[in-house]
Amino acid sequence: MRILAIETSCDETAIAVVEAEGTLEKANFRVLGNALVSQIDIHREFGGVFPAVAKREHAKNLVPILEAALEEAELLHEDAQVIPEDVRAKISEILAREGDLAQAFFAFVSECEVPEIDAIAVTNGPGLEPALWVGITFAKALALVWNKPLIPVDHMEGHILSGLASINDKTLEIKNVASPILALLISGGHTELVLMREWLQYELIGQTRDDAVGEAFDKVARMLALPYPGGPEISRLAEPLRALGCETPKFTLPRPMIHDPSCDFSFAGLKTAVLYILKERGQLSDEEKSELALEFENACAEVLWAKTARAIEKTGAQTLVLGGGVSNNTHIRRVFTKEIAENYSNVVLRLPAPELTTDNAVMIALAGYFRSTTNLEAQPPNEIRANGNQRLA
Ligand code: KG4
Ligand code: ZN
Repeated sequence: MRILAIETSCDETAIAVVEAEGTLEKANFRVLGNALVSQIDIHREFGGVFPAVAKREHAKNLVPILEAALEEAELLHEDAQVIPEDVRAKISEILAREGDLAQAFFAFVSECEVPEIDAIAVTNGPGLEPALWVGITFAKALALVWNKPLIPVDHMEGHILSGLASINDKTLEIKNVASPILALLISGGHTELVLMREWLQYELIGQTRDDAVGEAFDKVARMLALPYPGGPEISRLAEPLRALGCETPKFTLPRPMIHDPSCDFSFAGLKTAVLYILKERGQLSDEEKSELALEFENACAEVLWAKTARAIEKTGAQTLVLGGGVSNNTHIRRVFTKEIAENYSNVVLRLPAPELTTDNAVMIALAGYFRSTTNLEAQPPNEIRANGNQRLA
């Protein structure tokens, strides 16, 4: 099955074409085309992602990104198409609120053959609703004009499934995954532990009671006058110090809720503790900033691991997978690898390939394929809606 997948939930406009085959137990994927534009440079000026700006940029990027993905997949063949009046009218209505997108859409589809794809998958949540909507309306318009089925995909499910895949160049494979599968989802909007006892059926084991860990990274980075997104910046300060063997930094930060018996998290206090240090000290030297960054990473990694270990104990998980932007963090990856090897050698740790940790459309294609094989909730395309707060469990 060949899937065209569209992702616009946050600040990445991404489209991929993936050839998928197999079952939930053993599935293979070949990435035929993969195009992505990051809006990070635009949002950096604002110090964060602005939904209206994200939506505008997605609308501008979608057609060129589609063209690039199809071209790479060798599925772009120029040929004048006649679009029936009733289809054109329906699509115009769907894209009415997307400004120039309608014009670019018609210009594109009226000049190219219907590509050889079997279905279109699109992220419908969670994320920024205006950003999600533009991807969904674009996907609906494509599904109509090309007469293809449309599969709504949960963004977090995409993170989990791509984390379970082993990757070799343009080929991904999901096989021999022992259940139950515990997923630690850590991103700008999420910090949660979810359990999959059966494929695609989720149980919430723990979650943050306030800020997401990625949000804490971004806020602390901003306090240290580092650019957005803050995660990689904090890591860039801390890693050289670690390489020098610095294990006891000058500053001490709390490990919020580490002794609480639940698998829940809290990161707001950690951020406030950083704020107090900055207030008390005034300006920090570059070296002090690095020490603070290092201690902040230590605190995050320790709490994330402690709660995950507790969740492994509680659930008997056989596989642990990390997903979301923060799972790209070198220190967190290192701590999890070491702890699993030393304390839970019966549990298989799956870390997403770095190129799949941040938002992309390949993961949406994977999840779209898995959804299509189980047919859990076939929805007519016109009922697919954006849900910014969508939850797996
Ligand atoms: O999954 P993602 O790309 O977008 C969503 O939030 O859905 O995650 C973005 C988050 C940001 O908060 C960013 O600071 C964080 O992931 N992040 C990192 C690293 N790379 C990205 N945090 C820590 N270390 C990193 N290397
Ligand atoms: Zn994400």
